[in-house]
Amino acid sequence: MATPNQNWSVSSWRTRPIRQNPTWPDLEHLASVETELSSKPPLVFAGEARRLQTNLAHVANGDAFLLQAGDCAESFYDGSADAIRDKLKVILQMAVALTYAAGVPVIKVGRIAGQFAKPRSEEFEDVDGVRLDIFRGHIVNDEKPDATSRRPDPDRLLGAYHQSVATLNLLRAFTTGGFAALSRVHAWNQEFVANSLEGKRYEVVADDIERALQFMRACGIDLHDDNALQSVEFYTSHEALILPYEQALTRQDSLTGDWYDCSAHMLWIGDRTRQLDGAHVEFLRGVANPLGLKVGPSVTSEELIRLVDALNPENTPGRLTLISRMGHQLVQEKLPPLIETLRHEGRNVLWTCDPMHGNTFKASGGQKTRRFDDILAEVAHFFAVHQSLGTWPGGLHIELTGDNVTECLGGGSRLSESDLSTNYTSICDPRLNATQSLDMAFHVAEFLQNYSAANGARSL
Ligand code: PEP
Ligand code: CO
Repeated sequence: MATPNQNWSVSSWRTRPIRQNPTWPDLEHLASVETELSSKPPLVFAGEARRLQTNLAHVANGDAFLLQAGDCAESFYDGSADAIRDKLKVILQMAVALTYAAGVPVIKVGRIAGQFAKPRSEEFEDVDGVRLDIFRGHIVNDEKPDATSRRPDPDRLLGAYHQSVATLNLLRAFTTGGFAALSRVHAWNQEFVANSLEGKRYEVVADDIERALQFMRACGIDLHDDNALQSVEFYTSHEALILPYEQALTRQDSLTGDWYDCSAHMLWIGDRTRQLDGAHVEFLRGVANPLGLKVGPSVTSEELIRLVDALNPENTPGRLTLISRMGHQLVQEKLPPLIETLRHEGRNVLWTCDPMHGNTFKASGGQKTRRFDDILAEVAHFFAVHQSLGTWPGGLHIELTGDNVTECLGGGSRLSESDLSTNYTSICDPRLNATQSLDMAFHVAEFLQNYSAANGARSL
C-alpha cells in the first residue's frame, strides 16, 4: 500500500481537536446529509489523482512547473458556463506562456469544482450592533448579513457537491473537446498582446511562441490534429476544510486498497488548520491524494519537518506540495531556512508560491484588496530565494477570475482604490482579473527564463 494508514480511519479525525469548524445547529440533519453524500458517485477517480501525483513528482524533480489557480471561494450564485469557461481560458493562457518560458510541462490544477469553504480569522461579526456568525463560504452559509442567512445549513454540502459535479463535467468537456487546443490558446494570447497596454511588453515572447508553432508545422506536425495539442490535462483542488464533506466523499480504491478523497484530485491544508495533532492533518495524512500544505510566516523549521513527516512519512516525491504564503515583506527572511532544513534532512517536497494570502489589506473604502506590485514582488523574491539556494521554484498558486473585476490594485490597467467599487464581486478575497492574471503570467515567464539562463539551459 502506498499510504501507511497506521491507526487511521476515515473518521479518526473526529477524535482530534478541530479548528474552523462551523457550529452546525442540527447535528442529525448533518448526519443524514453525510449518509446521502456517501452514496453519491465520486467526483474524481483514484487513477487520476495518482497521475497528478506522478506529474507533481516531476515538479519536485525540477522537470515541470505547477500552476494552481482559480477562485478564492466559488459561489453558488455564479456557476455559469461562461464563468467557468473564462476562468479556464485564462489559466490555459497563463500556462502556455509559462510552458514556453520554463521549457518544461506546466501542470494545471484549478482551485475549482469544490473550492467553497473559507477559514476565517473571526468567528463572529457585528453588523449594525447585531452579532452574526461569520460567513464561511457557500458550503456552510450565505454572506447576506442576517441571522438566517448566516446559519450553517448542512444541505449546502449537497449544494456544493452538485455544483462541483456540474463544473467538473463542463471542465472535462472543455479540456478534451477542442476548446483548449494549443493554437487557439496561443491566438487568445496574441489578442492580449495586440489589444492591451500591458500586453505590448510581451510581443517578443508571443512572437517566439508563434515561431515555435510555425517550426512544428514545418516539421509536419498538424496542430489541429495532434492529440497532445488538442486537449489538456486539467486537475481540480480545494482546501479540505469541511471534514464531514471530505469524509463522505472518501472511498477505498479497489485497485490498491488505498483511500482517496474523491472530492478533488488534490487537497490542501490551510494555514489556520495545520496543527500537528489537529483534525485536518489527521484526516489528510490517511488519504492517498497529492496534498498541499500552506506555509505561512509563523511556521518554524521544527514544526514543518514534523508536519512533512506526518503527511508524507514515506518521503514520496509529488505527494506533498508546500505552498509558501509569507507576504512580500517576509518571504526573503522566512523561506530560506525552511527550504534549507528540508533539503538538509532529505525531505522530498516541492515548493510553490502563493503570493496572494500574505498581501491582503483593507482599502480606505473598506474593501479587502491586494496590490499587483506586492503580489509580483513576493513571486520575484520567491524565485530569487530558490535561485540563490539552487532549488527549483516549483510553481505558482493564484486567486483569479476570468471576469473583468476590480478587486486588486495596479497592474497594467493601473486600478486605483477609487476603481475598486466598479466591479467587486468576490465573496471572499480579492482576485486578479483576466488581464492582471496574464500580466502576472508573462512576468513569471520572464522570471523562469532568467532562472534557466542563470542555471544553464535545461537538457531536452
Ligand atoms: C486560501 O487559499 O484561500 C486561504 C485561505 O489561504 P491560507 O490558508 O493560506 O490563508
Ligand atoms: Co483566499
